[in-house]
Amino acid sequence: MNTPTMNIQTIDLVWQAGTIIRNFISKPKDIHFKGEIDLVTSADLAVEEYLKRGLAELFPDYTIVAEESADISSGKAPARAIYIDPIDGTTNFAHDFPFVAISVGAFRDGQPEWGIVYNPYNDELYHAASGQGAYLNGSAIGVSSTEVFRQSLLATGFPYSVVESPQRRRLLLDVLDRVLQGTQGVRRCGSAALDLCFVARGVLDGFYEWGLKPWDIAAGIVILQEAGGRVSDTAGRDHDLFTDGIIATNGHIHEALHQCIASATRTP
Ligand code: IPD
Ligand code: CA
Ligand code: CA
Ligand code: CA
Repeated sequence: MNTPTMNIQTIDLVWQAGTIIRNFISKPKDIHFKGEIDLVTSADLAVEEYLKRGLAELFPDYTIVAEESADISSGKAPARAIYIDPIDGTTNFAHDFPFVAISVGAFRDGQPEWGIVYNPYNDELYHAASGQGAYLNGSAIGVSSTEVFRQSLLATGFPYSVVESPQRRRLLLDVLDRVLQGTQGVRRCGSAALDLCFVARGVLDGFYEWGLKPWDIAAGIVILQEAGGRVSDTAGRDHDLFTDGIIATNGHIHEALHQCIASATRTP
């Protein structure tokens, strides 16, 4: 039997799911708290349900792993999985800070298959499938050519759990201090999926973060790799979706970023 792959119908499903978010732009949101600063809104839940139903029909052989309903405590990836983050950047969404994305990525036997990341605020849609290149609104994209670490612009993020652990916070700040001293600047925009896509389209040169979950990064990894970028864990080894810590770059500055992080006295 032929395994279905991502096509225009899949892209359309994600775009349609964006209507749910678009309807809430500049309107009051129904916000619930999963933790002190960890939010979820009724839009997250509605997008997730919409995508789960649509993707189950399009990809019946895949296990759907979605942020607001999945249990990934086993730490094991299903053989064929579609990872859904219904709103990556929920805090941004709650404030209408327009860096928000729906992220849907498929992996098979640990290998990236395809990914779609869509920002309903500015209608930018990224997609990629293994071996077929990466695209932004249908036009091919590629990573930057920056080779000098000092001239690179990076992004990072901080997990919600950072507020609960002064020790972890100190460690992340140690790393940030090193990176700030070594580069042209660091951005913290609030959506890991879009951070990866910004490296893929060449406006950022690299990204690193700890504490991310498979649904934050599955789609972005496919898009970045197809755009010519490189992904590893923070020790510079092969990254798998359940690893805590990711480095994602244009390839040229990868080793320099890895060394910079490693040079921090203690890493998280
Ligand atoms: C968060 C975003 C953010 C990252 C956090 C994630 P959410 O996802 O990707 O950029 O720094 O670690 O949890 O909760 O908005 O889907
Ligand atoms: Ca997320
Ligand atoms: Ca989310
Ligand atoms: Ca969340």
